[in-house]
This record gives sequence, C-alpha cells and structure tokens, in this order.
Amino acid sequence: MSLPTYYVGLMSGTSADAVDVVAVEFFSDKLNLTEKLTLIDSHSVPLPHQLRQKIHSLATPNQNEIDCLGELDQELGELFASTINELISKNNLLPTDIVAIGSHGQTIRHRPPGSIQYPFTVQIGDPNIIAERTGITTVADFRRRDMAAGGQGAPLVPAFHRALFHSVDVDRVIINIGGMANITWLPATGNATGFDTGPGNVLMDAWILKNQNKPYDPNGDWAASGQVQHVLLQQLLQHPFFIQLPPKSTGRETFNVDWLEAEIAQLTATPNSKDVQATLLALTVTTIKNCIDAFTQRHAEIFICGGGAYNLRLMHELQQQLPNSKITSTADLGIAPEWIEAIAFAWLAKQTMNRHSGNLCAVTGARKEVILGGVYFA
Ligand SMILES: Nc1ncnc2c1ncn2[C@@H]1O[C@H](COP(=O)(O)OP(=O)(O)O)[C@@H](O)[C@H]1O
Ligand SMILES: [Mg+2]
Repeated sequence: MSLPTYYVGLMSGTSADAVDVVAVEFFSDKLNLTEKLTLIDSHSVPLPHQLRQKIHSLATPNQNEIDCLGELDQELGELFASTINELISKNNLLPTDIVAIGSHGQTIRHRPPGSIQYPFTVQIGDPNIIAERTGITTVADFRRRDMAAGGQGAPLVPAFHRALFHSVDVDRVIINIGGMANITWLPATGNATGFDTGPGNVLMDAWILKNQNKPYDPNGDWAASGQVQHVLLQQLLQHPFFIQLPPKSTGRETFNVDWLEAEIAQLTATPNSKDVQATLLALTVTTIKNCIDAFTQRHAEIFICGGGAYNLRLMHELQQQLPNSKITSTADLGIAPEWIEAIAFAWLAKQTMNRHSGNLCAVTGARKEVILGGVYFA
C-alpha cells in the first residue's frame, strides 16, 4: 500500500456563504520554505439560509447561547464531514489517500488581545464528527494556540501566502477579501508581515440582505448604481480599528449592521440605501488602500483572493485608488481566488502533522512560532 500524499482543506468563512473544500498535493522544498502544489479538486456547498441565520445569531451576543452553540457545533460538523465525503467520492479517493484534513471551523466569536481581559476565539463544526464520519485524521482549532502564545490568533493565511507566493525578484501584496479582509506583505527581501484591514464584504452583504433580501451584491452592481456619501465614509473611517497599529484582527462582533445603522443615525439626513452600499464598498477600498500605502512599498504586484475578487466594482475601484500597481487576482499566480483559504488550511494541517509551526509572529504578534491546532486521529 502506498503512503497517503493528499491533504484536504476546509474553509467556512465569516461570510457564512458556503463550505469550501479542496484536495491538494504539496511538494515542499527541503527547508519547507517554498511550496508547490497541485489542486486535485475543489467542491463547494452553499450554506442553507436557516443555517446561515443560526450562525449569524450566534455571532452576536444573544439568548440561550450554550444550547444553540452545542447543537450548531454538531450540525456543522455533520455538514463539513458530508462535504468532504462528497469531494472524496467524486474523485474516487480513499480515506487512506489523505494524510489529514485541516478544518478552520466556523467562527462565532473572536475577541482578540486588546479587546478583553482574557482574549478568546471560538470556531465550531466538531472535528470529532469530521474524523469519525470521514475516517480521516482531522486537524482543527488552529487559532487558539497562537492566542495562547500571546497572538491575535489571526490572520493565519499570511504564512501560507509566503510559502506559496513569495518571490525573490519582486515585492508582492496579497489581499484576501472575504467577510473580513486581510493583507499579506511579501517584500522580495525582508520579512513577510500581515494583518486584518477591516471589513471586506461583510457590511455590503449585510446591507443588501436587509434592503433587497439578497445574500450579496453580484459584481458590486448595486454599489455601482449609488453615490459615495463622503460624510458617512469619513465618519466610518473614524472607527478605532482603522487607526490601531498592527498586529490586529477583527470580526463580525465589531463590524456589523447594528454599528452601521448607529453611524447612519448620526447623519443629519438619511442617505439613500444604494448610496450607503456605494459608501460601504468605498470603505473596503479605502481601508485596503490606506494599509497598502502605510505598510508596503509602492509598485508592488497586488493579487486579490477571496470572494471579493469577483466583485468587479470593488476590483475597479481598487485599481483606480492604486494606479501605480497592477491589480489582478491570484488566478494570475495559478490558483483561483475562491480556493486560496481552503488550501491554506490544508497546508496548515500539513504543517501540524509534520510538527512545523504555522503562525508568523510578525503577523499575529505571538511571542513565538508554534505548532497550531488539535489533532483528532482517524
Ligand atoms: N460575483 C460576485 N460579486 C460580488 N461579490 C461576490 C461575488 N462572488 C462572491 N462575492 C463575495 O464574496 C463573499 C464570499 O467570499 P469568501 O472568500 O467565501 O468569504 P469568507 O471567507 O468570509 O466566507 C460573498 O459573501 C460575496 O460578498
Ligand atoms: Mg466563504
């Protein structure tokens, strides 16, 4: 029998739009610094509306949370396991072909250092269920070990961006625009760094859901039909998160529709809802641009990943705001933008199984690099 060589990565992000899974084969160099990979296959299962609502209600303080959390942990564990089993049978793989699954889990609360006396982060989707239903060793709970070492627990993808996308010839910036957005700065010489820039799609998704009952704004067309409200934009930019220096990370508990509506209520006149959407898109673009200007050098190559890469208006506005850099998606580096994060968690599982660290101190602020995650053996 040949040794297993594949890894599976599973991502269910802040957007709670879908469960994304990938099967990957990695080819590392000896020092484990540069990585090459083959994406064997990918699979995505949209989260049913009711499940999404349960996630959203647990992501903000609510009633009877322990029971809701306990049950949702199991329900998501079953969904994650069945999504992986679908990918496996679609490709005629056996559980023994796969070294391990890396499951990010669904974040329902993120309280990083600086926000609370005893910082914590909670990702659910029980890995016991995943290991049991798939028969594959599962690595999960990646963020808490970094926090135990004094880090933010987030973002974790920059280490993977470095392993995959670092170039010795050219400075690069990778921007992941999911529910939240994060930046990875990869200078040709020097150390990689990164941090959360703030909301990516989360506010635009919440606003179009509330006003038009749509889960997101396809291509950013609704935002494009509105006018940016500069007074509102300047007011939103006053949020302390945007001024805070890295390391920093954020989530739905900070940037949500309640915060947005409280800010709108302070205006002298209520803006048109499509103008609010245009302003939210401008908020994402401006905060990303400000971070690129402040923390990276000009003329770097900029690559976008995450679902935001498909928001044409967002991509257009980013290019307008950053005329000195060519902005494309990670498809130009050989990987479609929607699979980067799931692949990152396959890679983090490989790091853990090989007893290699997965965090970057310069990114999360941890005191040391640590082996991330708990292992649930097959
Ligand atoms: N065609 C599109 N047009 C505009 N936005 C899109 C499109 N496709 C995806 N998105 C955005 O991407 C989000 C999902 O991005 P994703 O990277 O999966 O985020 P997360 O990691 O938070 O789940 C959607 O909620 C939506 O806002
Ligand atoms: Mg998603």
